[in-house]
Amino acid sequence: MAPRGVVPTEDLPGDMRKRMPKIVTGYTLTRLAVSAGMKGKGYGERLLNEAMEKVYRVAQQVGGFGLFVDAKDCAAAFYEKYGFEPFPDDPDTLVLRISDMDPYPLKDPEE
Ligand SMILES: CC(C)(COP(=O)(O)OP(=O)(O)OC[C@H]1O[C@@H](n2cnc3c(N)ncnc32)[C@H](O)[C@@H]1OP(=O)(O)O)[C@@H](O)C(=O)NCCC(=O)NCCS
Repeated sequence: MAPRGVVPTEDLPGDMRKRMPKIVTGYTLTRLAVSAGMKGKGYGERLLNEAMEKVYRVAQQVGGFGLFVDAKDCAAAFYEKYGFEPFPDDPDTLVLRISDMDPYPLKDPEE
């Protein structure tokens, strides 16, 4: 995971452009992969959910518009299953608005 550079709002999917500043920023899921023999067993979903939770929690503290991913190897459809939306002019770049994530419960700081 890494901070995302500036993203022009005009590049975002249409419904996300409304009432937004000219640029947004957020986080990039830089790498998510499951080894060949372990695909299809739910590990990808678990890893993605873990990444989303981390980003959600960081964003509650420091802000940010979305979690971006630059999908490889036809994985865009995998991300779309979890609510990511493709950029109209670059469908292998996808974004999930942090405000669209299900809220993760607060953690007890003593834990
Ligand atoms: C994409 C990847 C991370 C998915 O991991 P996985 O462990 O195989 O996926 P899961 O078993 O958790 O699957 C969860 C769901 O996503 C679906 N899915 C998995 N890979 C998919 C793909 N490439 N396209 C569309 N849907 C996909 C599964 O069918 C499953 O759906 P279901 O719940 O309706 O049955 C894995 O295939 C992978 O490592 N691919 C190669 C590397 C890669 O492409 N990484 C992403 C680049 S950014």
